Amino acid sequence: MDIDFTPDLGALDAQTAVALIVFEDELQAGLGAADAMSGGAAARAQAAGRFKGGKKQTLDLQGVGPAARVLLVGAGLRHDATPADIEQAAAAAYGLVKASGATTLAFDLTALSPEQAAAAAFGVRLGSYRFDRYRTTERAEQKPSLTSLRIATPQAAQARAAFAPMAALADGVQFTRDLVSEPANILYPEEFARRVKSLEAMGLQVEVLGEADMARLGMGSLLCVGLGSRRESQLAVIQWRGASDPDAQPVAFVGKGVCFDSGGISIKGADGMEDMKWDMGGAGAVAGLMHALAGRKAKVNAVGILGLVENMPDGNATRPGDVVTSMSGQTIEVINTDAEGRLVLADALWYCQDRFKPQFMVDLATLTGAIIVSLGHDYAGLFSNDDALSESLLSASGASGEPLWRMPLHGGYEKQIESMIADVKNIGGRPAGSITAALFLQKFVNGLPWAHLDIASVAWKKPSSDPTIPDGASGFGVRLLNQLVADRYEG
Ligand code: BES
Ligand code: MN
Ligand code: ZN
Repeated sequence: MDIDFTPDLGALDAQTAVALIVFEDELQAGLGAADAMSGGAAARAQAAGRFKGGKKQTLDLQGVGPAARVLLVGAGLRHDATPADIEQAAAAAYGLVKASGATTLAFDLTALSPEQAAAAAFGVRLGSYRFDRYRTTERAEQKPSLTSLRIATPQAAQARAAFAPMAALADGVQFTRDLVSEPANILYPEEFARRVKSLEAMGLQVEVLGEADMARLGMGSLLCVGLGSRRESQLAVIQWRGASDPDAQPVAFVGKGVCFDSGGISIKGADGMEDMKWDMGGAGAVAGLMHALAGRKAKVNAVGILGLVENMPDGNATRPGDVVTSMSGQTIEVINTDAEGRLVLADALWYCQDRFKPQFMVDLATLTGAIIVSLGHDYAGLFSNDDALSESLLSASGASGEPLWRMPLHGGYEKQIESMIADVKNIGGRPAGSITAALFLQKFVNGLPWAHLDIASVAWKKPSSDPTIPDGASGFGVRLLNQLVADRYEG
């Protein structure tokens, strides 16, 4: 989609849908502007219905002027409209007209700030995502007709400048969504690593470790997950050096990349097993974040580590009861081969701190079904050994619109993962399943500030209630962590 900011929209035609973002406390002004484009239809339609400019409200007028339609989308009260509210309002307008036949969506945002105009463009970029690579017979009228977005704002140059880093962020989110949407026969660990390797063109450094390299490093925990798979496990190491001092201590992000999770010998039931293609959503988010940081040339040194495996049953697969030795030296009794994500992260986290000595580590993982029981699909779970890092993450969560809820990481639960024959076992039973998973990870963190985001609840949205997230891969984590870096770790 081409995106253009302009001081005024000029003449409207029948190929164009016009949209206005209306604030609840400025309803009359919004209706006045819409009336001018619709021969007075907006005020009449408003009087006949319940549109007040509230969040998520829309008023859709067709055949009332030179444009194909005039849309009003509400954003609530002006003073408490967050960037996320503007993004969602704009994306909602896009959703209403994307396949209407109109080719241009034109926003009249003359009453909004340049930052808000940029946020509207960002919302449309995110909301217009589609994964249609494998559709060969889709009818033309189901395909989006919109190809261009025009936004009228008095300070067009400022809006364009504000949008540039957001466009890089949207590219990163899109990269994540593509990875997460791909089926597991296409996106297996080596293919994932190849796609990440291609990011070197953006100025990122990417190394890929294979099974022999990881065996030499002693990563018996990560490696035991892929033993039943025909696909080779991989560890991708992505570096971005954007700080003025190229040797400044980096920030680090670690992702669970289980390209398919059948459960292994502790095999899952058939119902919904197809969802386990997106069990690499944590690694996908880290890859998209690195894409975004490079795309906007962030002034930070950042490391992304992706543990890429496939969890399958086979004669060579890890058995329940097997004991493996992790890179940290700690032994793990694998009681359930379906608790594989934590086995991957155990070695990925250890490797990360051992090699890079980062300021902090944040891991992202579709780790437990239990986090969905706790939080539903609105929040990801945050677990951390560090209050300052938690506060930074929660404030980035508020600013980016990706919700986080802090969960307890209380040592009292640790007895649930004590093993009779090894240092730790990989499951702690049903009670507090997300917490015992996080406590397991903590055993592979050597003192530095660390946070674990359990994103099993939010990586995939179906149905999605947020117009910036089409049904399917959300890209959760990219916006949040980009915000964290921008707010606290640049310049
Ligand atoms: N990948 C799953 C967790 C998951 C569940 C992600 C639903 C997304 C949606 C993870 O590897 C898993 O299987 N966890 C088990 C752990 C259990 C065996 C202790 C679970 O949550 O049931
Ligand atoms: Mn599993
Ligand atoms: Zn899993």
